[in-house]
Amino acid sequence: MKLLNWRLTGLLGLMAGSALLFLTACQQGANSQPVAVAFQTETSLQDIMRFIIDTNADEVWNAFSTVVTAEEEIEKSPQSDEEWAAVRRSALTLAEASNLLLIPGRKIAHAGESTSSHPVELEPEGIAREISQNRAAFQAYANALHEASLEIVAAVDKRDHEAILRLGGKLDHVCESCHARFWYPGERIPEFPRLKAIEHQALKQQGGQ
Ligand code: HEC
Repeated sequence: MKLLNWRLTGLLGLMAGSALLFLTACQQGANSQPVAVAFQTETSLQDIMRFIIDTNADEVWNAFSTVVTAEEEIEKSPQSDEEWAAVRRSALTLAEASNLLLIPGRKIAHAGESTSSHPVELEPEGIAREISQNRAAFQAYANALHEASLEIVAAVDKRDHEAILRLGGKLDHVCESCHARFWYPGERIPEFPRLKAIEHQALKQQGGQ
């Protein structure tokens, strides 16, 4: 009897608890205020680029290649289940790392760190300004990284060498697009000198007619 009572009390307690949880959930739904999540943001965007995104992208890129020589076409791809699993892990890490880029309050670089080794590359303040003024575009590039990485995971599951090579190119394009937009937005591709000379020649001929 004593045991039954204890069980009954426990059950009632559980029911009350569930009702409370249900009410809390309803309240949250009703006022639709975003729940405050306490993210820890000691790691900088630069850390994530260097030590998570770049390293894992290299793992994916380096695992696959097709080398065409005069005699033969040599395809390099993972050889064992462990090697395939390693590529899958890297692609999945890349996908999830895209979300890390979107965590609010993250600094671009630690104090004293530069992000500019070339004059066209912005320093952290400039990058932070670009991102805060164009948050939707930044998010779109992060989402594109997510999508391309998950496509690689799916292709790895099918062990589809061709698709992975193609998606490796797509991944590279995503990296490059975000960098061109937020890291070196002022970059101008210099005109190819020979094209310039041809254009000049054509203009001269036109002028002479
Ligand atoms: C959503 C935008 C975005 C995407 C996508 C992105 N990056 Fe970046 N990346 C940045 C920004 C902004 C910087 C400049 C700040 C910095 O130097 O870390 C940067 C810098 C870097 C750096 C230089 C880090 C350093 O030493 O300062 C590397 C390497 C890099 N990214 C690799 C990659 C690779 C590889 C990919 C794709 C697999 C990628 N990034 C995708 C935004 C992005």
